[in-house]
Amino acid sequence: MSDQQQLMKRRVAAAALEFLEDGMILGVGTGSTVNALLDQLGPWVGRVRGAVSSSEGSSIRLRSLGIPVLDLNDVEELGLYIDGADESNARLQLIKGGGAALTREKIVAAAARTFVCIADETKLVGTLGRFPLPVEVIPMARALVARQLAGLGGRPVHRAGVVTDNGNHILDVHGLAIEDPLSLESAINQIAGVVTVGLFARRPADVLLLGTADGVRRITA
Ligand code: 5RP
Repeated sequence: MSDQQQLMKRRVAAAALEFLEDGMILGVGTGSTVNALLDQLGPWVGRVRGAVSSSEGSSIRLRSLGIPVLDLNDVEELGLYIDGADESNARLQLIKGGGAALTREKIVAAAARTFVCIADETKLVGTLGRFPLPVEVIPMARALVARQLAGLGGRPVHRAGVVTDNGNHILDVHGLAIEDPLSLESAINQIAGVVTVGLFARRPADVLLLGTADGVRRITA
């Protein structure tokens, strides 16, 4: 990663922290942009009540900072969720799951009052689908789901060697131009064996912070 990219990630992460308030429980996503956020969470130790994490990787980093990692089942309100994305459209509908954490990410997003997405400006697209759409599947259903995804017009590729935190496999679906994200999310959710599709259209982000060479650009739903 170039110094410029690293700087942009640090800047959007700092801008996202402006949404965090004392006493909140923070939802924490997964990925390199979120890692730039975790690098800046030190001053919040003791000020946030804890965090709900979307991956084992982020949980390890949170614990090493001294931030309690809470079970979502024990949390009555998740004030803020901060996470990256692989793509966003102008309506803040996202493709996520490049880091294979999509299932827990979708759960935490669903539980959060406010979802702030942090990314660099290259992730903003007119039509979702240039980034292959990740789909988490139950291992025994992988070939069955792949055939049905091909029937929807995509070209699913098994992400070899990857097992998710939930013990499942990932299919990355290439060649989709996602004109109607809500309908495609529903259609893929109907396929037996699908755990989660990495299309966040029913629950888009509320705020998108984009790192640019000139600073942070903010888009609100
Ligand atoms: C992980 C994700 C990440 O948010 C997404 O892949 C973006 O990662 P990065 O910040 O490294 O570009 O969805 O499952």
